[in-house]
Amino acid sequence: MPLAVVPPFITLPTASCLSGNRFFFGTIVGLVIFLAGISPVSAESVADKSIQPLVSFLEKIPATSSAYVGDVACISCHQAKSDAYHQTAHARTSSLPSLESIHGKFNQGSNIFRTGNPDLFFVMESKENGFFQTGVLQTSPTTNVSRTERFDLVVGSGRKGQTYLYWNDHALFQLPVSYWVEKQEWVSSPGYSAGAIHFTRPIIPRCLECHASTFEALAPPKNIYNRDSVVLGISCEKCHGPGGEHVARYRSTTPPTSLAAAAIINPARLSRERQLDVCAFCHAGLGKSLTPPMSFIPGDVLARHLEIPKPDPKAPIDVHGSQVQMLERSRCFQSSPAMTCSTCHDVHLPQRNAAAMASSCLKCHTVESCRIFPKLGHAIDQQCNTCHMPLQETAQIVLSTINGQTLQPKVRNHVIGIYPDIRLP
Ligand code: HEC
Ligand code: HEC
Ligand code: HEC
Ligand code: HEC
Ligand code: HEC
Ligand code: HEC
Ligand code: HEC
Repeated sequence: MPLAVVPPFITLPTASCLSGNRFFFGTIVGLVIFLAGISPVSAESVADKSIQPLVSFLEKIPATSSAYVGDVACISCHQAKSDAYHQTAHARTSSLPSLESIHGKFNQGSNIFRTGNPDLFFVMESKENGFFQTGVLQTSPTTNVSRTERFDLVVGSGRKGQTYLYWNDHALFQLPVSYWVEKQEWVSSPGYSAGAIHFTRPIIPRCLECHASTFEALAPPKNIYNRDSVVLGISCEKCHGPGGEHVARYRSTTPPTSLAAAAIINPARLSRERQLDVCAFCHAGLGKSLTPPMSFIPGDVLARHLEIPKPDPKAPIDVHGSQVQMLERSRCFQSSPAMTCSTCHDVHLPQRNAAAMASSCLKCHTVESCRIFPKLGHAIDQQCNTCHMPLQETAQIVLSTINGQTLQPKVRNHVIGIYPDIRLP
């Protein structure tokens, strides 16, 4: 029996919540964003200031600022933000292999992945010189063929799952066995099928654009990189643009006295479209690249770099990061010109508490405005997201496990709306 075919992307059934249901909406409390004030010494010590668009700040960044300096350069002046940020899924989304970074288990009894093909299995081993995956295919009762490759890179923070990559000279490939955290099981990697030993899925630049920081892609084929150039994890500069000039100015003997000369992008100062573009670069699906890898810089119009097809409103949405399109379908978003991802998320902090995030709904709504309030009362206080942004199983088979079982991961539906079937647990 062949292995289940595993589609590379997860899809979610179309949310059925946009069907009418208009209501009168009372007071909307505008979102007020505060910003830590300026100080030439420490960036984290000073008074609050409302965000103002700095009309010409982009022009003030000279061409030399194209230098990426890496997260280490930010720590000395933005210590608290940096410490918190480095605990997040963004910062940890790719890393070098270690017993800590690899969530899969290597101890005997937990380190074999049996596929749907009874003659094929994989062994995961931790040795002195690294971590290895070996595919073993029994070709006759007495003979087998095998292939071994090393875990060279880990992709996925381990929130839901991880997949592993290996280098063959300067070419980057995906290993055939991934790990699914919820079930604590090795699973077959997305994109690999059939009952053969496959080690051939190339890792394209777009994958690293979303899951790593900087890298140099060499031409062609599309999975050849300068190995020394790959910076893992999502760095500060991925959302703030190259920081070379900013660091140079604040380290100089005459540091800027006004943020207009800060020479760094604060997304909060961008228009809503450009703010969403910063997130949409990675949270609106694969798209089609129009410019070379690493061209997009926060503040740019994303559509000039990436063609993201506007999905048919009735079609299922791809959830391997499509929160932008989903949010855009929500009444809340359509009726609130100031709403962005930052209304609810502070990406500098690990935020893994949907109940606490109900407070972000209450920036614009009251508990009493919920139509179910008369029936359930204050039991709903912390539960807004449970009913209005439900966790939903994806429609498609996503991964196959040892027993050939399929896994349907749950994702948070970002179409904020009314889902009449959802009950409190
Ligand atoms: C030598 C000290 C120093 C270093 C290094 C430094 N910054 Fe700053 N940064 C500052 C100061 C001072 C401010 C202004 C303080 C304020 O108002 O928050 C600032 C402000 C900022 C802002 C807000 C700009 C605005 O317009 O609101 C961002 C974003 C920022 N830094 C990001 C970074 C990143 C990313 C790095 C690393 C690449 C970095 N900083 C490195 C000192 C530094
Ligand atoms: C367009 C950007 C984008 C591309 C391209 C992309 N990913 Fe992702 N990936 C994401 C986002 C965003 C998430 C988190 C999705 C969510 O939770 O909704 C994610 C999640 C994952 C996870 C699960 C992480 C966890 O801890 O839960 C793995 C593993 C993963 N991606 C691997 C890959 C690999 C390997 C490739 C390339 C072959 C790839 N992705 C291509 C954006 C991307
Ligand atoms: C995933 C995108 C992303 C990453 C990565 C990121 N930031 Fe930010 N940052 C933002 C956004 C968005 C804002 C605007 C604040 C808001 O609207 O909540 C911001 C605002 C800021 C500000 C100014 C506002 C404030 O709260 O002081 C500073 C300084 C800053 N970031 C520093 C950093 C540093 C340092 C890192 C790395 C350790 C980092 N950021 C990583 C998205 C990001
Ligand atoms: C460079 C690509 C990239 C950018 C830019 C980006 N993200 Fe992400 N984001 C990811 C990936 C990849 C993951 C999954 C990380 C993982 O678990 O391995 C993720 C995960 C997340 C999560 C889940 C974190 C958790 O701990 O559960 C949130 C929330 C999120 N992103 C919000 C944002 C917002 C808001 C922005 C814009 C300010 C943004 N992201 C910009 C790639 C990106
Ligand atoms: C920035 C302000 C803002 C935030 C934050 C916000 N909403 Fe809304 N929401 C609105 C507005 C405005 C409407 C009215 C839309 C209309 O009548 O066209 C609305 C409409 C709704 C509706 C009716 C949707 C429909 O399709 O009929 C629900 C339910 C809702 N919000 C729940 C929530 C929940 C739950 C949260 C938190 C996860 C939230 N909202 C966060 C502004 C917001
Ligand atoms: C048990 C599930 C549940 C919880 C928890 C819940 N809601 Fe609702 N909510 C509903 C349902 C169902 C409706 C639609 C009822 C109807 O139209 O008869 C609704 C309607 C709404 C509406 C639209 C009101 C209108 O006039 O059309 C808003 C706004 C809203 N809820 C906000 C919230 C907020 C804010 C919270 C958290 C404090 C919350 N809800 C918690 C189920 C829930
Ligand atoms: C109205 C509030 C709200 C807004 C706006 C919002 N989110 Fe979320 N988001 C949530 C909540 C609540 C969760 C669930 C957190 C949890 O379960 O820990 C979540 C979870 C996520 C996750 C993890 C998904 C998963 O299934 O594990 C990602 C990724 C994410 N958001 C990205 C975004 C992006 C990108 C935007 C902007 C396009 C955005 N969010 C806007 C409330 C919001």
